[in-house]
Amino acid sequence: QKASSTITRFPLIPVRGVPLMNYIANNWDNIWAFRPDPSDLLIATYPKAGTTWTQEIVDLLLHNGDAEACKRAPTPVRSPFLEIFSPPPIPSGLDLLEKMDPPRVIKTHLPFQLVPPGFWENKCKAIYVARNAKDNLVSYYYFDLMNQTQPEPGPFGGYIHKFMQGVLSWGSWYDHVKGYWLEREKRNILYLFYEDMKENPRREVERIMKYLDLSVSNEVISQIVELTSFKNMKENPMANYSCIPSPVFDQSISPFMRKGEVGDWKNHFTAEQSKLFDEDYEKQMKDVDIPFRTLI
Ligand code: A3P
Repeated sequence: QKASSTITRFPLIPVRGVPLMNYIANNWDNIWAFRPDPSDLLIATYPKAGTTWTQEIVDLLLHNGDAEACKRAPTPVRSPFLEIFSPPPIPSGLDLLEKMDPPRVIKTHLPFQLVPPGFWENKCKAIYVARNAKDNLVSYYYFDLMNQTQPEPGPFGGYIHKFMQGVLSWGSWYDHVKGYWLEREKRNILYLFYEDMKENPRREVERIMKYLDLSVSNEVISQIVELTSFKNMKENPMANYSCIPSPVFDQSISPFMRKGEVGDWKNHFTAEQSKLFDEDYEKQMKDVDIPFRTLI
């Protein structure tokens, strides 16, 4: 069975100028009012920047590398998605969070200015993961093809323009990466890069461990690096989003764990598209110096 009658590609509605799925926009007041516990951890990303990978690393660190403990439930149940609202009976992120005791690991794709202020008032820790724009775009394009609740991506060439204009779900990548970058010191946000995680996963797992004030043995760190390799997560039913029924995530179109590489954009952008994108990038990013790498 393909798309069932209840699955629709939800239209986007702007919330303070940021396009969000209508179910999120319509529940905005409840999301904005969310009060986390000071012990809660926020994992924030632009969609497709390495959220699931980071969620898995954090869960394993919190469970001292216990693979079985981290297979107790699928990712979105272990680490709820703050703003997600789907048509009933699918539980919203807020419903799941209400039933969980702190400390909770909470995922969000909201740009900094839309994160409920309770997180900063309560001095919650937050990890931000950023991925270079071109690979992030390619990954999002495939995700929008397979996720039957997101707006239709259309042809790749047009998608590049939508990305540059910031009209995709959750808005502008440029504003997103900048928003957290500019606040990272004041809010004690750990700002990570997908490319660094690929280059030296052990170093980044150790950074996360230190940020969370945890201490696990070298052996356990090796184990976490192994368990969170792309290959192992792709095969892990509790991490590969096979929990989402196929009419919603059609993984026959593109698997959630698609490629997991740095530089895949080279297989998608023509030389001309790349030039156009780079020129626009210079303009949109001229006010910050965030050390992104499009190749490692
Ligand atoms: P690709 O589409 O480039 O393969 P998110 O979790 O934020 O939705 O991000 C998904 C992207 O992260 C996908 O990128 C996915 O393959 C990649 N990813 C997930 N787990 C990974 C891992 N363990 N190592 C490397 N990349 C991973």
